[in-house]
Amino acid sequence: TGMGELDRVLGGGAVRGSLVLVGGAPGIGKSTLMLQICDNLCQTSSVLYVSGEESERQIKLRAERLGVKRERLYLYYQTNLDDIVEAVRELNPDVLIVDSIQTLYNGENASPPGSVAQVKDCTMTLMQLAKGQGITIFVIGHVNKEGSIAGPKVLEHMVDCVLYFEGEQHNSYRILRAAKNRFGATNEIGVFEMADNGLEEVPNPSEALLSGRPKDTPGTCVTCVMEGNRPVLAEVQALMTASGYGNPRRSSNGFDYNRAAMLMAVLEKRGALKVSSCDAFLNVIGGLSVDEPAADLAAVLALASSYLDKPIGNHVAAIGEVGLTGELRSVNHLSERLSEVHRLGFETCIIPKQRKDQIRAPQGLALIEACNIAEALRAIVQA
Ligand code: TYD
Ligand code: MG
Repeated sequence: TGMGELDRVLGGGAVRGSLVLVGGAPGIGKSTLMLQICDNLCQTSSVLYVSGEESERQIKLRAERLGVKRERLYLYYQTNLDDIVEAVRELNPDVLIVDSIQTLYNGENASPPGSVAQVKDCTMTLMQLAKGQGITIFVIGHVNKEGSIAGPKVLEHMVDCVLYFEGEQHNSYRILRAAKNRFGATNEIGVFEMADNGLEEVPNPSEALLSGRPKDTPGTCVTCVMEGNRPVLAEVQALMTASGYGNPRRSSNGFDYNRAAMLMAVLEKRGALKVSSCDAFLNVIGGLSVDEPAADLAAVLALASSYLDKPIGNHVAAIGEVGLTGELRSVNHLSERLSEVHRLGFETCIIPKQRKDQIRAPQGLALIEACNIAEALRAIVQA
């Protein structure tokens, strides 16, 4: 597709004759992404962009604003499946983009557009078109919380690839993930930023995710998680306050709630901090969701730092899984993570204690090894 972050998630690029479903909440940037790749695709191929949401004129205006003006990009406002298939037969494009599956309808099917029966029916026809004619098809599917229209979930088993575009409305970062890929791994992510002139690729997510980080403030700690084969730094923030009521409030954002509760309990029992009566909030900055145990130690340190109201040094990062007995357990890909930590200018990293010969720290990065969270707290927060 010529867009590195998208190609990465697709496993190298789009495969001819495959059908890729691009799902995401309305307004997240699906149409923008698809229109932007047309610019590169049209250099070597012809693309038919079928929209049931915006008129040809609206799409043309948007394409011009995004700087997409290629000769072999064809626009078609249509929702009738038969007419679309007809147009594809006539034009014979290399790539077909359908925006969105929920607006299409097959006249032979009595169900309304957007119903489970219709979206399945239409997807099946498009799938046959892709395989039969060797056309690469991208289909946009809206994910909506109310569930009144059938979402991409019901189509996952039918198509070759399912990508989800995630992010928050108030945050300009967008993350593209593969939920299914018949032609590649599903653990890669692509990072984009929504700017004034469309989506920009973020080849250096660590830098972006750490930008604007508060300095010398209690309750923040940086860790490194693996997103596919790529190490990405993430900031974990915590806030602990004395609870006004009998039942303390707990909340977590971008971090598993139950895991956070467990880490609080370990902190109380093995870290000897009386946190159980506190309201606690845990937040991963930048819209990233962290679902890796390697982030445990950073969460524990951020919580303790907030509780004790003592900042963790700015140049300190933490990597490690925390067990129920408070022990620190080693994580995979440690040397890649340490390189990334070092690359972003961190000077110290605390890690689980392990045999010396297993790790090679990059020059200039000091390692602190700890066996359990009590040791980690003494070294980092209580020092
Ligand atoms: P869009 O691609 O229309 O979303 P979807 O197709 O997933 O529903 O994106 C719409 C949002 O993106 C809208 O809120 C405005 C924003 N946007 C920008 O910020 N900059 C741009 O250059 C474009 C085209 C859109
Ligand atoms: Mg759209």
